[in-house]
Amino acid sequence: MSQSGLDRGDVLGAPYAQSIARPATIHVCSACGHEESRWAGQCSACGEWNTLVEEVRRHGQRAARAGAAIPGSTGALTPVPLGEVAAAAHARLQTGIGELDGVLGGGLVPGSLVLIGGAPGIGKSTLTTMALAHLTAAGRRTLYVSAEESAAQIRLRAQRLTGGTPLAIPVIAETDLGAVLATLESVRPEVCVIDSVQTLHSAELSSAAGSVGQVREVAGEILRVAKARGICVLLVGHVTKDGALAGPRVLEHLVDCVLQFEGERERTYRTVRAIKNRFGSTNEAGVFEMRDHGLVEVLDASAMFVSEATRAPGSVVLCAMQGSRPLLVEVQALVSPSELEPPRRVAAGFDRNRLALVLAVLGRHGGIGLGTADVFVNVVGGIRADEPGADLAVALAVASAARGVAMTSPAGRPLACFGELGLTGELRSVAHGDRRIAEATKFGLAPALSPDSHRTVREALAAALGGRQRSPRVAA
Ligand SMILES: Nc1ncnc2c1ncn2[C@@H]1O[C@H](COP(=O)(O)OP(=O)(O)OP(=O)(O)O)[C@@H](O)[C@H]1O
Ligand SMILES: [Mg+2]
Repeated sequence: MSQSGLDRGDVLGAPYAQSIARPATIHVCSACGHEESRWAGQCSACGEWNTLVEEVRRHGQRAARAGAAIPGSTGALTPVPLGEVAAAAHARLQTGIGELDGVLGGGLVPGSLVLIGGAPGIGKSTLTTMALAHLTAAGRRTLYVSAEESAAQIRLRAQRLTGGTPLAIPVIAETDLGAVLATLESVRPEVCVIDSVQTLHSAELSSAAGSVGQVREVAGEILRVAKARGICVLLVGHVTKDGALAGPRVLEHLVDCVLQFEGERERTYRTVRAIKNRFGSTNEAGVFEMRDHGLVEVLDASAMFVSEATRAPGSVVLCAMQGSRPLLVEVQALVSPSELEPPRRVAAGFDRNRLALVLAVLGRHGGIGLGTADVFVNVVGGIRADEPGADLAVALAVASAARGVAMTSPAGRPLACFGELGLTGELRSVAHGDRRIAEATKFGLAPALSPDSHRTVREALAAALGGRQRSPRVAA
């Protein structure tokens, strides 16, 4: 934190010096907007707990909040008809990573702010370093601001990623927001990476780096400079597994584009998808594999997952959609007698509540009750199958595991399926059914079990298990 001469209190005494050195901050309730001069656990106006967030008090802020600024009283502006607004048609900047450019809607839009959120260690720094390396090589002015790692650490990573070729990316390792803003003003990069928004610190606020107030202040100030100077900023943000960390969530409305970087850290596959995009669709997703020399685009993920599918009991292939692209991915289940009450339900890559629903439908409408069994479900490769279309695959994988019967086609190929389960046991159609079926056909997995071929989960189970049902291994 910056220490001015006055801070040291040699003339004025410490308490007084502090109040001069640090611009006044206020604590604003995020629930009702009430302002307090000090932090408190509970808002005295609305009674909500833990809603006071520190903000820098800017000139006239209180008057504006109180509604004292009557429109038209000062500095009225003249609205311009949209048709007369000068539209800057800048070409998008290619990051050289096809999957990333696709998710962005064709590349980075100059002057835009992109938030890249992801769990710790998922590969955010790797992705942004690779993008900057390409942009720098293409002759763009770039800047990498690291508030987490030293310049030496960034160099080591970049060397690993580029195979030791000369590294031209300009870097600064700095945590102070003021210094970063001044550098942005002087360097004026076309593309800048801020890694990460939670570790930059504004000296104007007393709260710790990463707190909601700090994250908002840091992002707001960077946004101001970026928009004024036409700098495209890639803002890295950490999200915890359940997305609970306040940080990036409070920024989503501020930025132009929010990318979510997902995958299991221990596995090699990663997906990047747009949650919000002011310059493109949010349907696209990119698949990567983390290798020792960086993230490699996986152009034919379906082929890889189908070839790796085990075809053992408990394994089926889901015709999933990753954005607007179909993807065949293996879903595995394990069912075993439980010693716990209630039994375990563990899901990786699939929503746990959704799993509870699928098991309830299986028990009630499919005749496969698992009340005394532990159930584990895993979507292979760290892929997340967070769509209703994955229900049937989970149901069939669990049924296959419970019955001890492998679900394969007569030709011995893995069984492919998709569809949503309704609460009355019906199969409901999902988006892009034709594209999912086309993908299954392309890899020799036709016909796929789907709401087009079967009406209920009972019919689908009968078709999948056929006459091959063995006596239940797990007490129903
Ligand atoms: N030599 C290596 N070979 C293969 N993979 C590696 C190697 N070194 C690092 N990785 C992978 O890179 C990941 C870390 O990447 P990166 O530092 O870009 O993640 P991050 O999201 O920026 O993490 P953080 O949250 O710590 O900033 C590791 O989890 C690991 O999977
Ligand atoms: Mg990092």
